[in-house]
Amino acid sequence: MKLLSRKAACNSHGQDSSYFLGWQEYEKKPYDEVRNPTGIIQMGLAENQLSFDLLESWLANNPEPAGFMRDGQSIFRELALFQDYHGLPAFKNAMVDFMSEIRGNKVSFDPKKLVLTAGATSANETLMFCLAEPGEAFLLPTPYYPGFDRDLQWRTGVEIVPIHCTSANSFQITDSALEEAYQSAQKRNLRVKGVLVTNPSNPLGTTLTRPELNLLLTFITSKNIHLISDEIYSGTVFSSPDFVSIMEVLKDSSHSTEVWNRVHIVYSLSKDLGLPGFRVGAIYSNDDVVVAAATKMSSFGLVSSQTQYLLASMLSDKNFTKHYISENQKRLKKRQEMLISGLQSAGIGCLKSNAGLFCWVDMRHLLSSKSFDSEMELWKKIVYQVGLNISPGSSCHCSEPGWFRVCFANMSEDTLDIAIQRIKTFVQTTNNNHSQRIHPSVKKSKRKSLTKWVFRLSFDGREPDER
Ligand SMILES: Cc1ncc(COP(=O)(O)O)c(C=O)c1O
Repeated sequence: MKLLSRKAACNSHGQDSSYFLGWQEYEKKPYDEVRNPTGIIQMGLAENQLSFDLLESWLANNPEPAGFMRDGQSIFRELALFQDYHGLPAFKNAMVDFMSEIRGNKVSFDPKKLVLTAGATSANETLMFCLAEPGEAFLLPTPYYPGFDRDLQWRTGVEIVPIHCTSANSFQITDSALEEAYQSAQKRNLRVKGVLVTNPSNPLGTTLTRPELNLLLTFITSKNIHLISDEIYSGTVFSSPDFVSIMEVLKDSSHSTEVWNRVHIVYSLSKDLGLPGFRVGAIYSNDDVVVAAATKMSSFGLVSSQTQYLLASMLSDKNFTKHYISENQKRLKKRQEMLISGLQSAGIGCLKSNAGLFCWVDMRHLLSSKSFDSEMELWKKIVYQVGLNISPGSSCHCSEPGWFRVCFANMSEDTLDIAIQRIKTFVQTTNNNHSQRIHPSVKKSKRKSLTKWVFRLSFDGREPDER
């Protein structure tokens, strides 16, 4: 007799995706400049560590909120006691103001329509519980964030149907791609309840254009379905075109209240403020019933009182938020440029991007054949031999083999530099090996040009467990 639930025993969590497997490999042998200089560099984690100094200096100048204090008095007991699942009003006010500021104050948000959740992970799942039944479907443009397989499907029983986007138009969403996805869901007898997009996109690092956003609104209007816009990276837009939120497009258009009620935003402080450990996310919806249901569901993933108290104070400091947003964007831009030019010098291109903590890197020319098997083969070489954990496009459900997501904001500049050197040497070696087959006589002279450490570290042809 089985003693476990089907959910506990099933395999639909997505943990066996190469996205998570890469993390496991990194954990076994993490790079450290001093203790483990030959270890794996983690480039598969979309963390923002570039502006911790700004947060730390704010904390140093404002010791009260982190010390459970208000006006010199301890509020430890107040924070320690049971909290209401509606969230602290001061924090919700500060959050909606921060969300407006990120959108250039072109839209404003009503704190009564905001539901706090333990990160965007919880926000996305909660929306699935509110908007769909098990066995109903959401359409998602590919490539998409690998965590969605878990967040949207695993516990809810909702199905994801891909909207196939391609490099032919820089992975933009088109009318025909939307329609094809809708038809393919219908063929599978799945009722489509909505479309979920990430804007800016993870893994593309690009923002949705106004025409794409209008197209999405037209589509959800005609099909009578929902639209979720996961705007977790909205504060990371570091170059033009500017970020346009779905709320801005909705405001500028003449859609009915019914359509307004079917558009929902997901947000979190995990990326823009670099605080994934604090677990602060939110749902913003115009539909009162969704807000009420999601608020009740938020009991399963509340944001702790002391986190809310601390961040209410930080985000209410307008001088700080203004400076933080612009300085953080400048730093992200610098990093993205560093990665792009490093890859370029290795003959590797990237999709043109203007946001995010990663680049969408084109390594199609390094595949031995145009297949996902070949993509896996290349990925394994990059993880085990080169010592970089990057995410293969297949883990993001990309329909074309050879694309990889490479993160640049979760490490120091020196580490990024080493990662770039490793890639360059790898490409050089691959090219050399190729020409060695053709011209064995040049073998020796080409080998000499390779840096010593990479040879020692990576190109002995064995996987780390065998070394
Ligand atoms: C598009 C997207 N949505 C949601 C999440 C989950 O974020 P959180 O840490 O707020 O749960 C991520 C994290 O990488 C993400 O990239």
